[in-house]
Amino acid sequence: MSASFHAVRGSFFDLLDDPWKYPGREALAARFVPDGLLIIAEGKIVDFGSFTEVSNRHSQVPVTHLPGRLILPGFIDGHIHFPQTRVLGAYGHQLLDWLQNWIIPEEMRYADRTYAQEAARHFFDDLLAGGVTTCQAFTTSSPVSTEEFFAEAARRGMRTIAGLTGIDRHAPAEYCISPQDFYRETKRLIATYHKQGRHLYAITPRFAVGCTHEMMAVCTQLKREHPDCHINTHISENPTEVRLAQAEYPDCHDYTAVYEKYGLLGPRFTAGHGVWLSNSEFRRFAQTGAAICFCPLSNLFLGSGLFRLGRATDPEQRVRLAIGSDIGGGNAFTPIRVLEEAYKVGMCNNTMLDGSVNACEHDAAEAERNKLNAYRGFYLATLGGAHALYLDDKLGNFSIGKEADFVALDWLAGQHAMAWRQSQVCGPEGPATVDQAASLLFGVMACGDDRNVAETWVNGRRAYQKLPTI
Ligand code: GUN
Ligand code: ZN
Repeated sequence: MSASFHAVRGSFFDLLDDPWKYPGREALAARFVPDGLLIIAEGKIVDFGSFTEVSNRHSQVPVTHLPGRLILPGFIDGHIHFPQTRVLGAYGHQLLDWLQNWIIPEEMRYADRTYAQEAARHFFDDLLAGGVTTCQAFTTSSPVSTEEFFAEAARRGMRTIAGLTGIDRHAPAEYCISPQDFYRETKRLIATYHKQGRHLYAITPRFAVGCTHEMMAVCTQLKREHPDCHINTHISENPTEVRLAQAEYPDCHDYTAVYEKYGLLGPRFTAGHGVWLSNSEFRRFAQTGAAICFCPLSNLFLGSGLFRLGRATDPEQRVRLAIGSDIGGGNAFTPIRVLEEAYKVGMCNNTMLDGSVNACEHDAAEAERNKLNAYRGFYLATLGGAHALYLDDKLGNFSIGKEADFVALDWLAGQHAMAWRQSQVCGPEGPATVDQAASLLFGVMACGDDRNVAETWVNGRRAYQKLPTI
């Protein structure tokens, strides 16, 4: 047996399919191995299954045992802003004022390499402490921030997607980047970083409001020249923003039509938010294979609105969905908190559906799809996010051949009240069935936070371990 093989033993929970396909029977999409063994070599999963079965095949491999933990695939944050690490929790404004007052001034500091380096250390520390092993990130209009982002991601061995963030209007002149400079710098950064190690590059027009026709046309050209790059942007987050986008692009009948006009909507395109998308726009996302990143922490913190989860998961026009913290619009790094708010958004949507206040007519199936149980929630945070980002061949569960990124959750940590709540599900020996595992995980997403993240492993190595509390 090769010396580079090593193994992790414990209770494993992952998703093999989309749980929205099995309403009321979501466990069919999940796999739970109460005493499992994961064999890792060179950062990849080379074998997985029950301890008794797999240990027979790998008797000489050194084993790290993680008792009292639920081991899940590493969380994927599909929409986060690296240069907003320090401005989370900014008081009192909705999107457009918030951007001008808090965000752009902070992002301007990232042209300073020393500041960007310090911030990158904080950013990746916070991600790992929250259980995130992959993110798709915005940087700033200064290439320095993109360079430092990728440099720190490489030090951590993390799979990330990011790109120079283009904006050439509705921001101070010293923050804007011209379409020509954006084109030239993006080409240089793609040549340096795309597909180097675990890096992937996203051509990143910040949003239609902040991008002129010339900037969008340059993105079209870049996508044509680099079809395997991602596109990362924002859409329909806030009603004032939607009206401004329509005023800036009067020839486009809705927000999605702007990205269609420039040939960007399609595979590997992700837009954050989509709170105010029409049914027709959801349909066009679904048909083209474009993804939406649902950012409930941010949507509530900035008062943007309630994402229509049940509509986006309509089986007739199922949109690829990730979840994102949208730091610093979102006010916490861990997807555990994102799932808590996602659950609440779904519940509030249903209040409106039941009260017939919602624009869409009362629809029991849609109301059911709004309900985020643990299977659905952790699907979005793992395999669903990977599917949205076209990375499900590499990430998202414990299937053999995938990259060994995972998180070990302590279901008893978190809020003080947590342990007694969880003791109703099972004893300290841990869950015996998939239903018990899902009940504990719902407890984590409903009452938990980054205190539930005991360890985060990246590329087969432990990258974070929570300090014991005194
Ligand atoms: N739209 C354009 N830029 C941003 C940003 O930085 N954060 C959020 N939440 N929305 C945006
Ligand atoms: Zn954002």
